[in-house]
Amino acid sequence: MPTLFDPIKIGSLNCPNRIWMAPLTRGRGTREHVPTELMATYYAQRASAGLILTEATGITVEGSGWPYAGGLWSAEQVQHWKTVTDAVHQAGGRIFAQLWHMGRVVHPSLHGVQPVSASATTAPGKAHTYEGKQPYVEARPLGLEEIPRLIGDYVTAARNAIDAGFDGVQLHAANGYLIDQFLRDGSNHRTDIYGGPIENRIRLLREVTEALIKTVGADRTAVRLSPNGDSQGVDDSNQDALFPAAAAALDALGIVFLELREPGPDGTFGKSDRPPVAPLIRKAFKGVLVLNSDYDFARGQAALASGAADAITYGRKFLANPDLPHRFAKGIPLNVDDPKTWYSQGPEGYITYPAA
Ligand SMILES: Cc1cc2nc3c(=O)[nH]c(=O)nc-3n(C[C@H](O)[C@H](O)[C@H](O)COP(=O)(O)O)c2cc1C
Repeated sequence: MPTLFDPIKIGSLNCPNRIWMAPLTRGRGTREHVPTELMATYYAQRASAGLILTEATGITVEGSGWPYAGGLWSAEQVQHWKTVTDAVHQAGGRIFAQLWHMGRVVHPSLHGVQPVSASATTAPGKAHTYEGKQPYVEARPLGLEEIPRLIGDYVTAARNAIDAGFDGVQLHAANGYLIDQFLRDGSNHRTDIYGGPIENRIRLLREVTEALIKTVGADRTAVRLSPNGDSQGVDDSNQDALFPAAAAALDALGIVFLELREPGPDGTFGKSDRPPVAPLIRKAFKGVLVLNSDYDFARGQAALASGAADAITYGRKFLANPDLPHRFAKGIPLNVDDPKTWYSQGPEGYITYPAA
């Protein structure tokens, strides 16, 4: 069985290790969602990851609801992402862009656009906005006739990602965002071909993934799911049926890897008392399976040794330790992340964590 330090090939990309960087929103772009020089420095510092997954990156204004997050719909964004991908490649790294439509958790104060979702629902809690935290508003259900346009938005963003020099894209279908809002019956009350039975609720995931594959190739298309329990008020009455079916559909499409975020009952960023669906998904999905949430070095090694996973993504540990693989290899103590600078602007707590 492999260890975290063994290489793994995904598509035509050789990843030198299985210690990957999880997608992390950091809010260091401009108000127009354009990447900055700081972001090039931050990602290049972390180039020793087997693979970097970027922060969630908006595919359109409609899908973007996070202050200062990056986007991938304009020529200016593509040009500045190129600076980021060049810096990572020059530092010897590999980087996928995480494609994001937030659906009902887009707050209209950001761009004056009413949020869209599977159905007319309102997320619980409050949105991060430029004017502080504000309660979410009710989403407008996407019309059947709008779905081709939505898929086209993903395609444009994926094409832009490749033009910007990314090695591939990861569809963000996790954490209670748009695709997840369609997947789970707590937020999808549709009665058309995108609602009701499981095969209908996974249709959007399948169609978007298919379109991404046509655009950038199966060897450059990955997906992230978060199966076990509530995410931002999005939940399902039968996760053990839904998510293996979704994974089987992705398996049939031949995506390059599937990443699962599944916090446990003692999770330190999200908790769930529902068991992980990963063991069922491992049977339904034959490709490269990547696990996430609260992994340390020992748990990561154990997951690989038992055959439960092929690679592990580390979020907060990579945030605070630009040289995480080196620290793991040498047993060097880790820096601890400071949540106060997770989403703050500027260099502090972003590019200031020291390498050992
Ligand atoms: C500051 C911060 C930002 C995050 N942003 C994203 C994101 O943009 N996309 C995503 O899929 N998950 C995001 N997550 C979740 C992480 O990818 C990961 O699932 C979580 O941190 C648990 O992994 P860890 O225990 O290794 O940190 C974020 C987490 C944190 C702490």
